[in-house]
Amino acid sequence: MARYEIKGGNPLQGTVTISGAKNAAVAILPAALLVKGKCRIENVPDISDVRILLSILEGLGATVEHPCDNVIVLDCSGISSTQPEAALVKKMRASYYLMGSLLGRFGKCHVALPGGCSFATRPIDQHIKGFKALGALVEETEEYVELAAGKNGLQGNRVCLDMASVGATANIMMAAVLLPGQTFIENAAKEPHIVDLANFLNTMGAQVTGAGTDTIKIKGVEQLQGGTYAIIPDQIEAGTYMAAVTAAGGDVLVKNVIPKHMDCITSKLEEMGAEVINYDDAIRVRSTGKLHSTTVKTRPYPGFPTDMQAQICVCMALAEGISHLTESVYETRFFGYCTELESMGAKIEINGKTATVTGRNHLKGSTVCARDLRAGAALVIAGLSAEGITRVENIHFVERGYENLIEKLTALGATIRRIDD
Ligand code: EPU
Repeated sequence: MARYEIKGGNPLQGTVTISGAKNAAVAILPAALLVKGKCRIENVPDISDVRILLSILEGLGATVEHPCDNVIVLDCSGISSTQPEAALVKKMRASYYLMGSLLGRFGKCHVALPGGCSFATRPIDQHIKGFKALGALVEETEEYVELAAGKNGLQGNRVCLDMASVGATANIMMAAVLLPGQTFIENAAKEPHIVDLANFLNTMGAQVTGAGTDTIKIKGVEQLQGGTYAIIPDQIEAGTYMAAVTAAGGDVLVKNVIPKHMDCITSKLEEMGAEVINYDDAIRVRSTGKLHSTTVKTRPYPGFPTDMQAQICVCMALAEGISHLTESVYETRFFGYCTELESMGAKIEINGKTATVTGRNHLKGSTVCARDLRAGAALVIAGLSAEGITRVENIHFVERGYENLIEKLTALGATIRRIDD
C-alpha cells in the first residue's frame, strides 16, 4: 500500500497554486448529464474522485476529451443508460449526484448507494424527500436507489430541507432544472460549490436564482445547451495549505483563491497568531513563530467548515494553551485522526461533540493511518510540523481530494515522498 514519508521541521516558503474545487467538480461533472451538447469544463482538479466520475460517465455513454491539463470536454448527448456501474459508484460519495442528474434528464435511474469517506453515518433522506416532492417514486434498498416518475410525471415544487444539506441542495437543483414549473429549495445550503453549480447550470441555459441564500428558485427550462465553464478554486485545499504554514511555520503565497470564501478560516488562523494578507485572488500567510489557543465550532458556510476541522486541530495541538474544537456537522469526525495525532504527542480529550486540545510545543514523527480525506490532510500537516519522520498510510483517501500534493509541498521546501510498496 502506498504511503507518504515526511521529514518534518522545514518551514514552508514560496508559492502554491490552488486547484479547482473538488466538491464543485464532483457536482458539475454529473450535472453535465443534463446538457445536450459539449461542455468545456476548465480548472477541473486531477484527483481520483474526478477520474472515477469520468469513468462512470463514459460507462453511461458520454464522450470525454482532455484537450489539456485540467480541462475536460464532456458530451453527454448520446447517453441512454440510466444505471451507472455500481462498482464505480460505490467508490465515492458524490456519486449520489447521478441520482438528481439522471432523474432530471431521463425521469428515472437506478443508482447504487455511494461509498467514499465513512467518518459518520451519512443519510440521504433529504435528497429522497426532494425527489419525492418533485413527483418521483422511490425504491430504496440497502444496495441501491431506484427513481421513476410517478403517474403525474415530474414537476417543480417547494422543498423545505430539514437541514441545509449540501448534497440534497445540489441534487434537487439538478433534478429540477429541466422540469416544468418552478422549484423552491428552502433552507438550502449556501456553500461556494452550491453557487458554482448554479452558475454552471445557468451558463448552460438553466434559470436558477438565489444560490448562496437560504432559498433557491429554479424555473424549469426545456433544454440545456453546451458551453464553457471554469470551476472555482478549492476553499478547503487553500485552507489546508494555510493551516500547514500556520502549524509548520514559513511564509507562503497561496494563489488562485477567492479570499471571501476563506474569511472564516483566515480569521481563526489570525486569532491563532498567523499573519494573513488578502490580495484579489491570492492570500499570503506568514507564521509569526507563536501559536495561541482558540475556540472553533464547525458550521455550514459561511461558518468554519467541518472539512477544516482536522487541519485546525493540528494547529491547536501546537498552540500555547487549551483550545476547544466543537463539531456540529459530523459528530464522529474526530475519530478519524485524533488517536493518530495523540501517537505523535498531541493531547486531545474528546467529550461528545467537543475536543479539548492542550497545546504542546512540538509533535514527534510516527507511523499514522489516514481514515478519511481531511484526516489524512491533517496527518500530513502534523508530519510537516513534527520532529523526525512521519509515515502516513492509507493515502488513497488523501489522493481523492488533493491534486499534486507531493509536488506542491516539495516546491514549498517540504521533505515528503510517496512510497509504493
Ligand atoms: N444529512 C442528513 N440527511 C441527508 C443529508 C445530510 O441527515 O439527506 C446530514 C448529514 O448527516 C450531516 C449534515 O446533514 O450531518 C450535512 O450533510 P451534507 O449533506 O451537507 O453533506 P454532504 O453533501 O454529504 C458535503 C461535502 C463534504 C462536506 C459536507 C459538509 C461533497 C461531495 N461533500 O457532503 O465534503 O463535509 O458537505 O460541508 O460536497 C470532504 O470534502 O472531505 C467532504 C466530506
